[in-house]
Amino acid sequence: MGVSPSLAEMRRHYQQDGLHKRDCAACPTEQLKRWLHEAQECSPGDWFEVNAMSLATSTPDGDVTSRVVLLKGLDTDGLRFFTNYSSEKGRQLAENPRAALNFFWPHLERQVRVAGSVTKVAREVSLEYFRSRPRGSQLGAVASAQSQVVASREVLEARLHELEAECSAQDVPLPDDWGGYCLAPAVFEFWQGRPDRLHDRLRYTLADDVWRLERVSP
Ligand SMILES: Cc1cc2nc3c(=O)[nH]c(=O)nc-3n(C[C@H](O)[C@H](O)[C@H](O)COP(=O)(O)O)c2cc1C
Repeated sequence: MGVSPSLAEMRRHYQQDGLHKRDCAACPTEQLKRWLHEAQECSPGDWFEVNAMSLATSTPDGDVTSRVVLLKGLDTDGLRFFTNYSSEKGRQLAENPRAALNFFWPHLERQVRVAGSVTKVAREVSLEYFRSRPRGSQLGAVASAQSQVVASREVLEARLHELEAECSAQDVPLPDDWGGYCLAPAVFEFWQGRPDRLHDRLRYTLADDVWRLERVSP
């Protein structure tokens, strides 16, 4: 077996593609849809979730946290994801609705950053998505007080079994504190790895309802 490189020695030569203003869509949502499609088409395997994105949130006094969530909807209103409103992210978003998202598609040597303001989606939208999930995921969402300390895995599993019995003859009720958020973007940045660390970075910023596209130094 070869010797693994140290962290300092790990280095990738990016050379797959370039990104030019002339090839970018006027609307960044459209550009993101193109890149999501390409990430899916060239996915290295079923295990790779192209719609996984890091979500960064913070408290008003500056404590920052991030975690992965799944993109479940995308249109000109913004990027939608679903979660527990009483979770740590939910509590932070209630106090400070500004957030950032990050996609990384290593197989395409691409990153997309998005920042903006988050609002809760309409209850009907959450209900429609909740109903589309497998029953086990619905029950899991009800059973888990996300981000709260729990005594053991057994406690969680016992709660799940209780709920299975309670809901056996009915739809699983959508919990009051579970639903979607929509991040309305103010900034998008599309990053394509290039040789010699001269990566392409193209940034869209919204001013007076018009998207401006600029190149940023790598
Ligand atoms: C691939 C992947 C996808 C995930 N998708 C979601 C999601 O869509 N919604 C969600 O609430 N948590 C999702 N999680 C779990 C979150 O990363 C996190 O553990 C959870 O939301 C609690 O975060 P919080 O305590 O910061 O609120 C996902 C985790 C991974 C690794």
